[in-house]
Amino acid sequence: MSTEREHFSSRIGFILAAAGSAVGIGNLVGFPVNAAKNGGGAFLLVYALFVFLICLPVMIAEMAVGRKTAKEPVGAYNTLSGGSKWWSLPGLLGVLTPFMIAVFYMVLTVWIFGYLALIVTGNLDYLASGESFSDFITSYYLFAAMAVVAAIVNFILVAGVKDGIEKAAKILMPALFIMLILLVIFVLTLDNAMSGVKFFVIPEISKLTPSVINGALAQAFFSLSLGMGILITYGSYIDNKTNIPNSAKMVALTDTGVAFTAGLMVLPAVFSFNPNINPAELSDSGISLIFVFLPKIFLALQATIGYIGASIVAAIFFLLVFFAAITSLVSIIEVPVSYLVGERKHSRKKALSILLMTAGILTLFATLSFGMVQFFTEFTSYAGGTKSFFDVIYDIFYDTILPLNGFLLCLFVSYRWKKAKLSEELAKGNANYKGSFIEKYINFSLGTFIPVIIFFIFINTL
Ligand code: PHE
Repeated sequence: MSTEREHFSSRIGFILAAAGSAVGIGNLVGFPVNAAKNGGGAFLLVYALFVFLICLPVMIAEMAVGRKTAKEPVGAYNTLSGGSKWWSLPGLLGVLTPFMIAVFYMVLTVWIFGYLALIVTGNLDYLASGESFSDFITSYYLFAAMAVVAAIVNFILVAGVKDGIEKAAKILMPALFIMLILLVIFVLTLDNAMSGVKFFVIPEISKLTPSVINGALAQAFFSLSLGMGILITYGSYIDNKTNIPNSAKMVALTDTGVAFTAGLMVLPAVFSFNPNINPAELSDSGISLIFVFLPKIFLALQATIGYIGASIVAAIFFLLVFFAAITSLVSIIEVPVSYLVGERKHSRKKALSILLMTAGILTLFATLSFGMVQFFTEFTSYAGGTKSFFDVIYDIFYDTILPLNGFLLCLFVSYRWKKAKLSEELAKGNANYKGSFIEKYINFSLGTFIPVIIFFIFINTL
């Protein structure tokens, strides 16, 4: 039986698919919320430094490990460590983490889809009223939305890497970006928008607390889809002609560009709709910031293009966020799929049904944990408060395990697989790599200060 591994059809296809994974709810929702919460400009500054100095080398290493082994995390760690028992643990964690992240990501995707459905049916004003959010997250329509989301993800993943993932990303990513730029231009014309821009881009160094730094690193890892075996898995689908450092740079730039643009849309809008806001009030903003403010931004368009016009623009926007979420969700689920197919020898279809079924049940629990069922809403308590089932998954996997996975990968690549082998892999498709500054930086940073910084932040989170 010959089952040749699928490949992306082109370099740009790979970059778009990886960017499709990276650009998602984390950029459009998570980033603006985190920036608002963590002091605006100060957060932006630390975030950008983390992306280029810490995350980029990790991303490059993940892609290299994937291409070298042509395997997902479990297979990759196994192959490169020569079957070491210890090193199979980070491999397993690299498959479990995306599976659990898929659960909470699915919940958010379902919400986005629910918003889209409500806007299309003429309810933009209801969503913009500000009180609708709590009703929305406990409404039974969400179950129908969940079924639709699962069906779409299943459809793309059954079609596979080239015809599913790559094709979807090629159309959806550019459309999203154009739409975002247009919305930013509109928001910047609103009254008082400039105080939001100032808050967002001018760093106040006094705001750089440990929790800001923590938040920035977790957000950067999540946004770039690192520490989740995704880029290992996507790396396993590229050929030796692809220039990995360059591709990774493109992905990081796109991802950060989209996050920045989203910030430039949301924060000025928040300031414009609350002219008397004290930035300190933003420090406890949560995800509802976006779900409440985005509809307000769109409703404000009403004055210029009428209610229907505003609803159409809003619908297009949520459609694109929805697609960005889908390309991310697809990448998250591709990791365990690839594991079940490659290591456990299940067929792709069977692997998908197993995964979607189990993830679906957990997603159901997570959806119920916003007030619908007390057991899941008050699932447990720690860190001075009750935590829902959703919170627990989020805290464990987003805040803690992601950086841990990144930490282990750095050590693995530097001290087990060895830097010389990493260099050799990265020199494929990049004739000038050996001896370059980039090579020196990657080899040095991965083996020294990146794991140290991640480790401190990790301890700090605990
Ligand atoms: N990076 C995606 C986002 O920003 C989410 C994601 C996380 C995708 C982890 C894959 C893996 O929304």
